[in-house]
Amino acid sequence: MTTLDINGRREATELPEDTPLLWVLRDDLGHTGTKFGCGQALCGACTVHLDGQPIRSCMTPISAAVGKRVTTIEAVGADPVGRAVQAAWVELGVAQCGYCQAGQIMSATALLKQNPRPSDAQIDEAMAGNICRCGTYTRINAAIKKASSTLSAGAKS
Ligand code: FES
Ligand code: FES
Repeated sequence: MTTLDINGRREATELPEDTPLLWVLRDDLGHTGTKFGCGQALCGACTVHLDGQPIRSCMTPISAAVGKRVTTIEAVGADPVGRAVQAAWVELGVAQCGYCQAGQIMSATALLKQNPRPSDAQIDEAMAGNICRCGTYTRINAAIKKASSTLSAGAKS
């Protein structure tokens, strides 16, 4: 049995420790907000945070998550940065089909936690691994900047 810290709660799985984290999250523990896209660390749909760092859960064995904090899209809004990112996404209507958007939000939140005022180049670099077949990239960029402004205005007040 493997015990994981997922969104601040301890959850156990009987699956082998080389099972990809994405399979455990979705199929075993019911955290279906994280999506399966390519299964090969190429699209970013499965992005979650491991101790605050964005990782591709489709290629990360659960053994690598033991003793670390796993955060998924279901809990990213519990954090002020994640909350600002989600609010900006809604305000600017970023999503089209929505399939890639959980991963986009997880990568954007990780970026703003590390770099609260990213340049366009830094946004492009941080988000390069998150593919959107609907082509929402312009709105994603605008929403990251909107969340950045909201957070910096809050920090000054
Ligand atoms: S499903 Fe993990 S990167 Fe595509
Ligand atoms: S919103 Fe459809 S794939 Fe990104």
